[in-house]
Amino acid sequence: MPTLDDLARSRTNLGDLDLAWLHALVSDWQLLADLSFADLILWAPARDGGGWLAVAQMRPTTGPTSLQDDVVGMMAGPEDQRLLEAARDERRIWRESDPAWTNGVPVRTEGIPVTRAGRVIAVIERCTNLNSARTPSRLELTYVQGADDLARMVAEGTFPFPDEAELVRSPRVGDGLLRLGKSGRVTYASPNAESAYRRLGLAADLIGAELGVLTTGLCASDEPIDETLMVVAAGRAPRAAEVSGNGSIVQLRAIPLIVGGTRTGALILVRDVTELRSRERELMTKDATIREIHHRVKNNLQTVAALLRLQARRLRAPEARAALDEAVRRVGSIAVVHETLSHAPEDTVDFDDIADRVARMTGEVSAPEVRVTPKITGSFGLLPAAVATPLAMVLTELLQNALQHGFPHAAREPGVLEVYVVREPERLTVTVADSGVGLPPEFDLDSATGLGLQIVRTLVEGDLGGRLRITPRSGGGTEAVVDFPIGSESLPDSADDPSART
Ligand SMILES: Nc1ncnc2c1ncn2[C@@H]1O[C@H](COP(=O)(O)OP(=O)(O)OP(=O)(O)O)[C@@H](O)[C@H]1O
Ligand SMILES: [Mg+2]
Repeated sequence: MPTLDDLARSRTNLGDLDLAWLHALVSDWQLLADLSFADLILWAPARDGGGWLAVAQMRPTTGPTSLQDDVVGMMAGPEDQRLLEAARDERRIWRESDPAWTNGVPVRTEGIPVTRAGRVIAVIERCTNLNSARTPSRLELTYVQGADDLARMVAEGTFPFPDEAELVRSPRVGDGLLRLGKSGRVTYASPNAESAYRRLGLAADLIGAELGVLTTGLCASDEPIDETLMVVAAGRAPRAAEVSGNGSIVQLRAIPLIVGGTRTGALILVRDVTELRSRERELMTKDATIREIHHRVKNNLQTVAALLRLQARRLRAPEARAALDEAVRRVGSIAVVHETLSHAPEDTVDFDDIADRVARMTGEVSAPEVRVTPKITGSFGLLPAAVATPLAMVLTELLQNALQHGFPHAAREPGVLEVYVVREPERLTVTVADSGVGLPPEFDLDSATGLGLQIVRTLVEGDLGGRLRITPRSGGGTEAVVDFPIGSESLPDSADDPSART
């Protein structure tokens, strides 16, 4: 079936704003169909040769349809055309005096002009199957009265509500309906709406109660009162809100009714979403939970870093300040890993991203006169979280050492600081090479007492199960090489790639 957009653009002269209005109308007119117990057809003036084109259609879920066939894309017959033109020219809801007989069913048709910015841009034809008309119950009377208010609002250009945030799925009339009077008191409650409020813990009568006050009173006391809830439950604003109380969650949607400039009350659609919300919570998978935890760990680490930074500022002794600044840097590089993990769909991360950020961070904190920016060659690829955290710290320390000890003074020429990565199926080798002043003559890795290299060694030999070497670089400077085994499970999934299985 052609869409409203297709039809409107190819066969009518509707402008963008008019079309947007019709979209808003159509996204919400199930309500009008259900309250009217009637079929709706949206007709727009056709571009060539006059006539009216059916651009959308809606059947009621509350009663039988009177239109067995789809009419979208068809042109109006002469009878319909007269009705539509009357509604447009008179700018009011136009009702045929006699029911028309379609397929042996008496159908009452009405034309509801759709007004936007003072112009009639389309007409809704409402077709009510009179065969199903019984002695109307209180429910039916309330529905039809609500439908008439809504229809008048469509004709007056006050419905749909243009600013209302669209709901993924608005509650339907059948989910539960309340009618509020002018003062915000309940004048009618459908059985489903009654049940929903009972589940929220309401013991008293709904009829006659001020819904805004009553609803906020039912809210679970440990939850903060939702400001919009009061406004919505009082029927003052065209919005949606959720109430939770007594272990149940109920969604409310208010449709304020303002007809001819006076407030006549509101319709409140009510839907019990307890089951839905609990299923959604279950669907929040393990992965999502893990990501959330990484996110929190990152936040906590950033708080720790901020505290250390504050403390560093209060210290006078430069050495003490430097020590705390280093701690800030170390915590920061762990935070980077958790941050990346919090965006990762699984428990593996793209370490190239982390390496870039770690390199940039160390580059930033190095003295401004040191004109060296780390350059990374080769690719780390995906690594499991258990490898990423220690490796990020190792990289931070090695880069820091190169900047701090390799290039202690302002360099006349820009130095070389490079990270080479070689990834083999089972092994990862990372080399951090600088063209700086080189290691001090008495340097011995095994007896090095600096904290930085102690951390590196512990992580490389302990956490990564690998080796660390620090040697003079051929051509001057220093070279630190870390290599460690990586399990094949940390490789990108190649199960779908037949060539990988040979
Ligand atoms: N790239 C390098 N170039 C020159 N010397 C280095 C290099 N890397 C390490 N060193 C030497 O090794 C020593 C030990 O380094 P280590 O990182 O353990 O301690 P630190 O950097 O002095 O202090 P910390 O890292 O705890 O702030 C350094 O003091 C430095 O003399
Ligand atoms: Mg160091």
